[in-house]
Amino acid sequence: MQYRELDKIGFKVSVIGLGCGFLGDSSKTKQPLEIVRKALKYGVNYFDTAHAYTDSDTILGQGLGADRRRVFVSSKTLAKTKSEAAKHIRESLNRLKTDYIDNYFLHGLEDKRDVEKRLGSRGALYALIEARDQGLIRHIGCTSHHSELLIKALEKFDFEIVLVPMNIVEREPLKALIPLCRDRGVGVTIMKPVAWGALPARLALKWLLNQPVDTIVPGATTLEQLEEDCLVGDYENFSLTDSEQKEINEIISRIKPESFWWHNLEK
Ligand SMILES: NC(=O)c1ccc[n+]([C@@H]2O[C@H](COP(=O)([O-])OP(=O)(O)OC[C@H]3O[C@@H](n4cnc5c(N)ncnc54)[C@H](OP(=O)(O)O)[C@@H]3O)[C@@H](O)[C@H]2O)c1
Repeated sequence: MQYRELDKIGFKVSVIGLGCGFLGDSSKTKQPLEIVRKALKYGVNYFDTAHAYTDSDTILGQGLGADRRRVFVSSKTLAKTKSEAAKHIRESLNRLKTDYIDNYFLHGLEDKRDVEKRLGSRGALYALIEARDQGLIRHIGCTSHHSELLIKALEKFDFEIVLVPMNIVEREPLKALIPLCRDRGVGVTIMKPVAWGALPARLALKWLLNQPVDTIVPGATTLEQLEEDCLVGDYENFSLTDSEQKEINEIISRIKPESFWWHNLEK
């Protein structure tokens, strides 16, 4: 597995992480504990969970067990207010059975008003700052499906890491968000890498690892998907062959980013 250093944070994360969004969904993921344990064996040391994923947190905590302190766990809160976010942090710590979380994100900034509210006085951000002062969380990040909202948030606060959708077809973050993050040493983590299975995983992850990103968090629901994803992280280099480039061009001509449901979320 290859690793890249989160610049400001100084932690070397596996280029393939584990998106834990579906771990707690038993209709989709039949062997969630085995997925976490196998991910550790493959060298994955970055795990993306969230307060809103409820049971995923508990399963992740169980699966990590004694390895918890050598990996990097990101969680997140959808809370708008300081008091609600503080409650979510306490619940996340309990479910994960840990005394600190490496990074806590403001989860899913929705629109400009939401940014103002959650970063404003008595907003959720202030619970994260307090928790960081108390050592309950170590770093603060933000996530959104919209690059421009992450840029807005970065203008207002010194977030250390972001999570944004990007893939072969959807490249908006490369225009302004990622250059800004690289310039400021902000960690870049990527969701929707395989567009919910619409893209061939091996090629989609390989393409992404040619981009200036730190880690990708595909939401594998089976051991086979996990293995396929982690094998890409083992490649010595991620250069694309002519035939892979041709396949990418064909995909781009066939699938438009507007066809992804999250692309049309209001903002
Ligand atoms: N911050 C946010 O707002 C936010 C929102 C969404 C997700 N996330 C994070 O991102 C993670 C990834 O989820 P995503 O929504 O970005 O979707 P994704 O990783 O692009 O797609 C995951 C889905 O694609 C299918 N798939 C097919 N081959 C796969 C492979 N080799 N590896 C992984 N998945 C494969 C699976 O569906 P089948 O089960 O049908 O095969 C799986 O459920 C989540 O677990 C979560 O950690 C964050």
